[in-house]
Amino acid sequence: MGPLVVANWKMNGSEQLLKTVVREVGGLAEATVVLALPAAYLSLPKGFPDTSIEWAGQNVHWLDSGPYTGEVSVGMLAELGVGWCLVGHSERRQHFAETDDLVLAKTKACLELGIRPIVCVGENLQERKAGKALEVVSRQLLAVLNGVPSALAQWIVVAYEPVWAIGTGEEASPEIAQEVHEALKRAARSNIKALELRVLYGGSVNADNASALMRMPDVDGVLVGGASLEAVGFRRLCEQVAGSV
Ligand code: 13P
Repeated sequence: MGPLVVANWKMNGSEQLLKTVVREVGGLAEATVVLALPAAYLSLPKGFPDTSIEWAGQNVHWLDSGPYTGEVSVGMLAELGVGWCLVGHSERRQHFAETDDLVLAKTKACLELGIRPIVCVGENLQERKAGKALEVVSRQLLAVLNGVPSALAQWIVVAYEPVWAIGTGEEASPEIAQEVHEALKRAARSNIKALELRVLYGGSVNADNASALMRMPDVDGVLVGGASLEAVGFRRLCEQVAGSV
């Protein structure tokens, strides 16, 4: 599989933006482009049956159904043809009190129905300054890997998103990303033999810094927030990633 570009729109975007983005990046062959849309827009992709773009939820509940107002189940995502879902984004950990246990439950629910979880991990600034970055991200990763059936772990993609780099315009240097990605892959292999974990980098990725990040041997793709909300710039970003192979 080639490099992966996942666009996380967060609570942004519109139907019009979707049309424009599909037009700009829908034909790209050398990279897989996945759009993680707000839940309210996840039925819109049905209008683009021929695009190469793949679709992701930004969040999902861990149960099949029930009295959980406002929530969306994995089965509902699957019914819409959504193939991926972000799990444990730092904004969910921070603003919606998602714990490692909850992230595991959601990851398992996705894997059971064949939706590929993109599990987000990342340290905050205080943890980085205290020299605890690798410890934090390894804990977050192993909380998931220790709890999923090993045969299904190969379907998990991990996104390293240092909290201090999200929406700040201050991306991690390629060297920092490489160090953390390598550590995550090592931790994964020591937990599940021969697991070839794919690790994306996220946090202020744009068309100007994507190439340098992608040149790192253990950066397998990017998770993009703000820079995915402007179609032409996002296409440039995708081309940089596609050109890195
Ligand atoms: P930015 O690219 O806006 O920093 O957001 C990163 C992110 O959180 C993607 O999930």
